[in-house]
Amino acid sequence: MSTFNVKNPATGKVLAEIQESTKEEVEAIIEDVHQGFSEWKSRDAHDRAAIIKKWHDLIEENKNELAEIITKESGKPLKEALGEVNYANSYIAWYAEEAKRIYGKTIPASTPNKNIIIKKQPVGVVAGITPWNFPAAMLTRKTAPALAAGCTFVAKPAVETPLTTIKLVELAHEAGVPKNVLQYVNGSGSKIGPIFTENKLVKKITFTGSTPVGKNLIRESAKTVKHVSMELGGHAPIIVCEDADIEAAATQTLISKFRNAGQTCICANRVFVHESVVTAFADKLKEKVSQLKIGNGLEEETDIGPLINKKGFDKVKAQCENAAKLGAEILVGGHGKVDEDKETYFFEPTVLLNATQEMDIMNDETFGPLLPIQSFANIDEAISLANSLPFGLAAYYFTNDYRTGLYLSDHLDFGVIGWNDGAPSAAYAPFGGLKESGIGKEGGAEGMEPYLDTKYLSIGGLKV
Ligand code: SIN
Repeated sequence: MSTFNVKNPATGKVLAEIQESTKEEVEAIIEDVHQGFSEWKSRDAHDRAAIIKKWHDLIEENKNELAEIITKESGKPLKEALGEVNYANSYIAWYAEEAKRIYGKTIPASTPNKNIIIKKQPVGVVAGITPWNFPAAMLTRKTAPALAAGCTFVAKPAVETPLTTIKLVELAHEAGVPKNVLQYVNGSGSKIGPIFTENKLVKKITFTGSTPVGKNLIRESAKTVKHVSMELGGHAPIIVCEDADIEAAATQTLISKFRNAGQTCICANRVFVHESVVTAFADKLKEKVSQLKIGNGLEEETDIGPLINKKGFDKVKAQCENAAKLGAEILVGGHGKVDEDKETYFFEPTVLLNATQEMDIMNDETFGPLLPIQSFANIDEAISLANSLPFGLAAYYFTNDYRTGLYLSDHLDFGVIGWNDGAPSAAYAPFGGLKESGIGKEGGAEGMEPYLDTKYLSIGGLKV
C-alpha cells in the first residue's frame, strides 16, 4: 500500500497521510459509478436539483471548516479561502437550478409528414482531474453541472490538496448524492490519468491544469473518442490605455495578479501600459504592492501566502533573475523567503519595470507573485503584443473610451475578458480559454452543454 503526505505549504507541517488508490481500486470505482449512472440519469430533474441544492446548504453550514482546510493545504489566506468556498458554492446553486432547464427542441421538417425532435441526454461517467490552486471551486465547477445533467463522476484531486475534495464529497453524500454517483480517487495524475483515459466506461474527461498535461489527456482520450473539456494554462495580458483611471487600473491589477500569490490561471502575467501613463501607473502599483503582507494564511493580516512547492518557487525566482539580467528594474520585492528544513517557499510580491519580449516572464506562465510592466505607443501594438503567445485564457484592459473598449474586445483572442475589471469570474458566465488555453466552457448555461449528448429523432409517416 502506498501513501503520500499532504503538507501545509506555509509551515511544512504534515496534515494527513493519504492512501494512493491502486489501479484495481480506480477501476472498481469507475465500474461502481457506471452502475450508478442508469438510476441517476432516470431520476426526475427536480429530484436531482433538490439533492444538489441540499449539498449547497451543507457547504454553507460548513464553510468555515472548509475554508480552513483550503488554507492549510493550499496556503492561500483564510479570507480568500472563504471567498473560494462561496465561489465554489455559487456553481452548485446555479446548476441546481439549471438541472430543471435542460431543454430539447423541435425542428420544422422539409416534408409535411415528418417531425424532428432534439433530445439532450447525459454523456455518462465523467472523470475529473482538478488542480491545487482552487481545490473547491474547480471541483464544484465540474461536478455540479455533471450531476445536474444526470452524469456520474469520479474526481481526482491534486496530491497537494485532496482534503478539500474529501470533505466536499462527504457533504455531497450527506446531502443525498448516492455513493455510486460521486466518488474520488487519490494519487498522482501520471498514474491515474492513464487509468481514466484507457477505461471505456469513462465517457468524458474534464481537466484543469497545465497545457502540456491537457494535450496529453486529449491525445490519450482520442483512443476511445471521449468527450474532453480542458481548462489549461494562460498568460494574461493587462492593457492600460492612456485615458484609463490609473487608481482603478492599479487596484484591479493588484486583485488580478496577487490573488492566491499569483497562482491562478487567469491572473495578470504581463502588463502593457501606454507610454504616457506608465510612470503614474507603476508608481501607484508599487505603492499598493508595498503594503501587501506575506505570511501564513491562517493569520488575519496575511495577503500573500507561500508558493505551493519548491518547483513553483524556483520558476518565479528564475524568471525574476532572468528579467533583471535583461534590464528590468525591480520596483518592489524581488526576494524569496525560504526555509529549506521546513520546505516552505515564499516570494515577495514583485513588480518589474521596463520588461521586454525576450524575457522569459513575457513568454512563459509564471504562477507566482511577479508582474512585469512594458510600455506601448499605440493600441494596435498593445493588441499584437497581447495576442503574440499561444495562450488565450484571460485578458484585461482599462479604458473609459467605449470605442477603444469595443475595439479591444473584438481584437483580443481570449475567452475571458475583463474591461475595467480584474475579477471577471462568476458561476453564471462561461469561463474557458481560446487557442492552447483550452476546449469547452465551465459556468453559465454553456457549462452544462459539455455534459450532454444531443440526439435527434426523425418521426416519419405522420398523418397530414
Ligand atoms: C483559475 O485561474 O485557475 C481559476 C480562477 C477562477 O475561476 O477565477
